Amino acid sequence: MTQRVALVTGAMGGLGTAICQELAKAGNKVVAAYHPQFDNKDAWLADMAAAGFKDFVCVAGDVSVLEDCQRMVAEAEAACGQVDILINNAGITRDRMFAKMERDGWDAVIATNLTSLFNMTKQVSAKMAERGWGRIVNISSVNGVKGQAGQTNYSAAKAGVIGFTKALAAELAAKGVTVNAIAPGYVATKMVMAIKPEVLQTIVDSVPMKRLAKPEEIGYACAYLSNELSGFTTGATININGGLYYQ
Ligand code: CAA
Repeated sequence: MTQRVALVTGAMGGLGTAICQELAKAGNKVVAAYHPQFDNKDAWLADMAAAGFKDFVCVAGDVSVLEDCQRMVAEAEAACGQVDILINNAGITRDRMFAKMERDGWDAVIATNLTSLFNMTKQVSAKMAERGWGRIVNISSVNGVKGQAGQTNYSAAKAGVIGFTKALAAELAAKGVTVNAIAPGYVATKMVMAIKPEVLQTIVDSVPMKRLAKPEEIGYACAYLSNELSGFTTGATININGGLYYQ
């Protein structure tokens, strides 16, 4: 079977790492896209090699900057030929109650979590359509589905991710390219651990399963949506949140 090339943004974060590993386990060649300010790349690669993942290709850039995305995809294509699977995972939080939120916290979250989808997807979608095969998976959030106090910026961006997913899915459905979203709940990553412990405890208490998600439980869904056999699934949002919220 053809080995597919999967590019994952935010690859060296908690969720991104698990996504890279699950995609590699499924037989894909993985390109790990990371923010140039992340200064632990070599340690991350060493950890991956120790875990048995020895041939990840790395590209560095800021997903909120169009030119960086053009360059990262060009580098991925130079190294691997083409990009068949794009996982738009990179994301940040700047949590504040709306009354206290400033424009910079709004702009940063919209740029990194939503405009990045334009920037990255633009580089690969037409070529996927021309080849007649592609998989695009966008990481949304339970908080984009239900709304979360303290996250008007993040909830707006992550709801936007779902709208983008549905619209592009309709445009590409006849071209062999699927576009889906995953809406994770609270996952055991640094982003979630940054929440004040007492606030986090209240959140975990409100999850019917009474625990955080393991990153690999999200990575596995990315591998599923990237598989050959997921070809009839498009425009979907998979909720993976321990029962916290469903529509
Ligand atoms: N709903 C409604 N009101 C709430 C609230 C809630 N869930 N939580 C707090 N408030 C209210 C308080 O009652 C208080 O009101 P009064 O001032 O009237 O007493 C007010 O908000 C406190 O506001 P402050 O700005 O003073 O609070 P703070 O600075 O201490 O904390 C915060 C604000 C940082 C947003 C904090 O509430 C917080 O961290 N909340 C959690 C946000 C969250 O869930 N983030 C998810 C991050 S992980 C992620 O995003 C990944 C993913 O996809 C799931």
